[in-house]
Amino acid sequence: MSSLVATTAVRGRFLDIQNTVAQARDIHAQVRYVEDGLLITQNGKIQWFGTWQEGQYQLSPNTQVEHYPEQLIIPGFIDTHIHFPQTEMVGAYGEQLLEWLNTYTFPTEIQFKDPDYSAKIAQFFIQELLKNGTTTALVFCTVHPESVNALFEAATAQNMRLIAGKVLMDRHAPEALMDTADTAYSESKTLIEKWHGNGRNLYAITPRFAPTSTSEQLEKAGQLKAEYPDVYVHTHLSENKNEVAWVKELFPERQGYLDVYDHYGLTGSKSVFAHCVHLEEDEWQCMHKTDSAIAFCPTSNLFLGSGLFPLKKAWQAGVKVGLGTDIGAGTSFNQLQTLNEAYKVQQLQGDKLSAFESLYHATIGGAKALSLDDKLGNFNVGKEADFVVLDLNATALQQLRQSKTKNIEDAFFALMTLGDDRNIAATYIYGHKAYVKKSSD
Ligand code: GUN
Ligand code: ZN
Repeated sequence: MSSLVATTAVRGRFLDIQNTVAQARDIHAQVRYVEDGLLITQNGKIQWFGTWQEGQYQLSPNTQVEHYPEQLIIPGFIDTHIHFPQTEMVGAYGEQLLEWLNTYTFPTEIQFKDPDYSAKIAQFFIQELLKNGTTTALVFCTVHPESVNALFEAATAQNMRLIAGKVLMDRHAPEALMDTADTAYSESKTLIEKWHGNGRNLYAITPRFAPTSTSEQLEKAGQLKAEYPDVYVHTHLSENKNEVAWVKELFPERQGYLDVYDHYGLTGSKSVFAHCVHLEEDEWQCMHKTDSAIAFCPTSNLFLGSGLFPLKKAWQAGVKVGLGTDIGAGTSFNQLQTLNEAYKVQQLQGDKLSAFESLYHATIGGAKALSLDDKLGNFNVGKEADFVVLDLNATALQQLRQSKTKNIEDAFFALMTLGDDRNIAATYIYGHKAYVKKSSD
C-alpha cells in the first residue's frame, strides 16, 4: 500500500457540487466555486475546506502547502461502468453488441485465466484510471477469480476505492469462459469474504447480462445478494435492440428485460445497470421504485451503434444516473471525453447537458449512483480525499479557447469539449498524490 501522508494541504481554484439533487435544474444552486481555496486532508479524509484567507490559520506550523495557482481542482472522476479485461481491445472494428461480444470480447477475456496476465493488465488499467483522473470505478472482471484478485490487488496498492466482481456466465459463451450456477455462487462468495470491505475495496455480484445466465444461475446470484445485502449488483440492461428481443425469447415468462433481474432479487439501491437505452415505461417505474441506478455510457452507445440514452427521461422518472466509460466498447478512459460525447447524445435528442450537470454526473451524481455519496463526490468535510488537479490549458487550442471564456461554467464546458488525459495534471487518492503528469505522458 502507498504510504499514507497524514496531512496534505492543497491551495488553488476549487469547483464542486455540494449536494445531490432530485432535478437537474437544482444543480446550479449547489455549485461551489472557490477561487483561492484551501483543502486540508488528514489520514485520507477532508478535514477542512474553504477559502485560503480563512483557512491559512487552520494550518499547523511547517505544513507544506501544495499550491496550484493556475489549475482547477475538482473531486475525482467516478466511472460507474468499465471492463478492465477489455483495455486491450478498445476500437474493435465493425460490429454491434452481440457480434462484437463473440468476435472480439470473448476471445480477449479467455486470457484472464492466467493470474500473471491478469496482474499485468490490472496494473496497466489502474494506472490508466489515475492518468485520467478517475479515482473510483465499478468494474467488470472476467469469469475467472484470478482476474478479480489481480484487480483488487492493484487497486489496493494505490489505496483506491474500487468496486468489482467476477462475471457470472453459464450459457451462450465459449466453454473456457463459463462457470455454473453452483460455482458462480461459491466462487463469488469466497471473493466477497476476501474483498468486500477489505481496505477501500467493495464487491459487486456481476452476472454479465441475462442472455448468458440460466434461471438457475440468476437465482443463485439473488440468493447471494440476499445473504450479503450490502454488496453491489452490476450488470447490463437494454443496451441493444437485438439483445432486448433475445431476452424476451429466452425468458418468455417474464414481463420484460428488467423483470428478469427484478424477479431474481437483483434490483435495489446497490444495483447498477449499464446502458438502459431502450427501457419501456414499466421498466423506468421499476428502476425508480427499486432505487436502482443507471450507468450512462455515451462513447460505447455511439461506438456500438446501440442508441441514444434519454437522460432527461431518467431525471423525470427519478432514477439515479452515473457516467460510465464502458471500456472496451467505450472509446476513452477519460471522463472529459465521455462528457463531450454525452453532450452530443443529448443534442441529438433536442436536449441540453449543461457544464454543471456534466460535472454532477461525473462526481457527486456518480457517487450517489454507487450509494457512496456519503463518502465521495465533493469537498465536504469528512469525505474521502480523492481529487483531481486539472490543467485547463494543455494545448495551444485550449489556451486560445480558455482565454475567451467568461466564467467558470463556460471554462468547464470548453474543458469537457476539448479535454482529455493531457488535462490531468495530478490525481490524489485518499489525500496522497498518486499520479503526476510528466511531459512524456
Ligand atoms: N453486454 C454483455 N456483455 C457486454 C460487454 O462486455 N460490453 C457491453 N458494452 N455490453 C455487454
Ligand atoms: Zn459493459
